[in-house]
Amino acid sequence: MRAGLILFVYLEKFMPVVVVVGMQWGDEGKGKIIDLLAENVDVVARYQGGHNAGHTICFNEKQFVLHLIPSGIFHENKLCVIGNGVVLDPQALVDEMRQLEETGIVLEGRLVISDRANIIMPYHGTSDKGRETRGGFQKIGTTGRGIGPSYADKIARAGIRTCDLRDEAYLKDRLLANYQEKQKTLKNLYNIELPEFSSLFDELLSYRDTILKYIADTHVLLRHQIAQNKNILCEGAQGTMLDVDHGTYPFVTSSNSTSGGACTGLGISPKKIDKVLGVIKAYTTRVGEGPFPTELSDEHGQHLGKVGREFGATTGRARRCGWFDAVVARYGVHLNGIDALILTKIDVLDGFKTIQVCTGYKYKGKIFSDMPADSKIIQNCEPVYTEYEGWSENTVGIQELDRMPDNARRYIDSLTELLETPFMMISTGPDREQTIQLDSLF
Ligand code: IMP
Repeated sequence: MRAGLILFVYLEKFMPVVVVVGMQWGDEGKGKIIDLLAENVDVVARYQGGHNAGHTICFNEKQFVLHLIPSGIFHENKLCVIGNGVVLDPQALVDEMRQLEETGIVLEGRLVISDRANIIMPYHGTSDKGRETRGGFQKIGTTGRGIGPSYADKIARAGIRTCDLRDEAYLKDRLLANYQEKQKTLKNLYNIELPEFSSLFDELLSYRDTILKYIADTHVLLRHQIAQNKNILCEGAQGTMLDVDHGTYPFVTSSNSTSGGACTGLGISPKKIDKVLGVIKAYTTRVGEGPFPTELSDEHGQHLGKVGREFGATTGRARRCGWFDAVVARYGVHLNGIDALILTKIDVLDGFKTIQVCTGYKYKGKIFSDMPADSKIIQNCEPVYTEYEGWSENTVGIQELDRMPDNARRYIDSLTELLETPFMMISTGPDREQTIQLDSLF
């Protein structure tokens, strides 16, 4: 009995469930990192967001952008799970599946979609765009993909879920109730006419058979995988500052992109999460509207955007660029419970004479070292900077820390000290090989 207990505790210690989150406003380079980590895991599971995300992966001189399917799909034999916390646009899903299949990737037996995920319908996109362009609310600069309205329906208990696809009569009733409501509101608010109900329903039915093949109770599947000591990587989309509860509200996405979202978005108990990793860029970017204290509207910002190729992987929009913000990063370390960080795009800072890091926000004579709730304070604060000397050497593709220029190492060491968190990996370019591995996870 006693020996059995000891063995059980020993195994528990070595069955890692790891959550990977973005530490800023998204676009930290999570796609590459998840693809790299995926090599050593059995399952990659996406827990929130929808096709608003764009995860770019480069290998064999090719580039792939994934929006919905977890970034582990490029490694053979890895199971890829789309969790209940994700909102699923059937057309975007089927398109992405087709693109992957065209590159020779077999999805059957490898892709599993939760039977509890909510579905994005075309009227969600219409409503998203209507509110952004014609509503009385502040413009958020959304991706226009219907993410907010579909999560709103989920919370209002009006959503349509993947399991509803199994019952055509129920699906029809549910969609009709939604259609009638949306038809009235969209007409009244924005004078928009929806297409005929039958065309909407037929379109949904046209995706049904493809999707039904992949749906399952993913909570049960993950529970069994955990019980068999499999390594599971929970993939977050967007970033901490876009979290609907903890980000720069209202300029956020509509889901919990922080680590807690992995529990609700996959049905995994918090007791089963072993490690949380944060992916953080060596500078900061954001897409869309909203406060961004370290934003640079000068030639330095333009340089970061150009060298870092800071264009949205989903919408192609130019990202706003600025210096590293340690207030944001510290907030993310605490909120997510970060065990180790992964620094990306350090090479983009090559050639800067000096580099600034924001360590506090000054507002009306007060210094905030913690993140204020009020977006107006974040918008109007003055960043307090510490200056570091830059480096002129080229760091692209460096694979050993010893080969990094002294000032780049000093910059990395200072970030470690400021955030009181170690770096596990440093990315020096988009390819898998362009990485400095400082510690291993498994
Ligand atoms: P939504 O998620 O389309 O509703 O957009 C809400 C906000 O989140 C907007 O500012 C978007 O630009 C931002 N956003 C959504 N997804 C991403 C992402 O994957 N990377 C960066 N920003 C994102």
